[in-house]
Amino acid sequence: MGGVALSGDPFAALGPMSEGGDAASRDGADAKPSRELGDYHIPVLREEVLEAIRPEPGMRIFDGTLGGGGHSEAFLRAGASVIACDQDLEAIAFATRRLASFGDRFTAVHANFAAMDRILEETGLGPVDGILLDLGVSSRHLDAAERGFSFQKDGPLDMRMNARAELSAADLVNDADEAELVRIFREYGEERASRRIAGAIVKARAERRIERTLELADLVASVLPRGGGKHPATRVFQALRIAVNDELGHLAMALEKSAGCLKPGGVLAVITFHSLEDRMVKRFLRRRSDKTIDRPEWPAPKPNPERCFDLVVRKPIAPSAEEQGANPRARSAKLRWAVRV
Ligand SMILES: C[S@@+](CC[C@H](N)C(=O)[O-])C[C@H]1O[C@@H](n2cnc3c(N)ncnc32)[C@H](O)[C@@H]1O
Repeated sequence: MGGVALSGDPFAALGPMSEGGDAASRDGADAKPSRELGDYHIPVLREEVLEAIRPEPGMRIFDGTLGGGGHSEAFLRAGASVIACDQDLEAIAFATRRLASFGDRFTAVHANFAAMDRILEETGLGPVDGILLDLGVSSRHLDAAERGFSFQKDGPLDMRMNARAELSAADLVNDADEAELVRIFREYGEERASRRIAGAIVKARAERRIERTLELADLVASVLPRGGGKHPATRVFQALRIAVNDELGHLAMALEKSAGCLKPGGVLAVITFHSLEDRMVKRFLRRRSDKTIDRPEWPAPKPNPERCFDLVVRKPIAPSAEEQGANPRARSAKLRWAVRV
């Protein structure tokens, strides 16, 4: 599908920046945040992120997932400067207003974090002392029925974080062929009943297009009866969201670029929310931090030419029981971080 490539284009959201100047001042200032401060999103693992990045005056930090601005605010309060991006204009608008009092220590750009090298180059603010990627959607995305991420609220089947991207979940559900739907549900949702669900979608859409979140949720539930705690459509919605926003493709690009955007001693911190992205971050950091590589046919291990990070803590950091209790959406979060060598 043509739209898949478009939503995978990291520069798709860079329109305002490529005209020159700070996107936040134009795109953000006139769009009103639809929620009051604090409602938008509760930052996850905030103290643990601060311990990893250790922001202080004179430091510059790239926040690739600005969202409601909770992490950025913590960096700014510690005296650091922040250059932040989000592919969602609503997040840029909300956080720009929230963080206005920090003046020129805070810069926001409407962009995809996969373009972090270009963002830092065009703003002249790189290289940086820290990079944070707090992956996935914000609470605002899940709470706002009109964004189409929730299988519990009726809304258009949208799921685009970047509302300027062409491909919506409805486009995928109605236009992708059956084999592609099976692949998406299996690969991105790790859904065992992928074939059955894709078959039911193809049958239903032959009658009429599936345009609403609850239509799809009910359809999935009809072929996959509720068992246990989770709604049967959980995995299908996760899979579609990942596909629509090309989340894994953008993460891969960002990881590859991260070392080139950091000063020596700078920290890359990534918070993941599901096993697909955590596995990707884990493998990347291991591959880029192992001091040596070895092959059975070699007489001895060789220095790793790809090494550019020091993995100080090998195990992922999970939210405390207290944080999980206070914020159920933090439950699946994992923080991994490494230092640029
Ligand atoms: C979990 S929220 C971040 C919350 C934020 N740390 C806070 O404290 O409020 C993730 C945000 O990242 C944005 N996002 C996800 N993937 C992105 C990408 N590839 N490029 C830019 N922004 C992205 C989403 O639109 C969302 O606003």
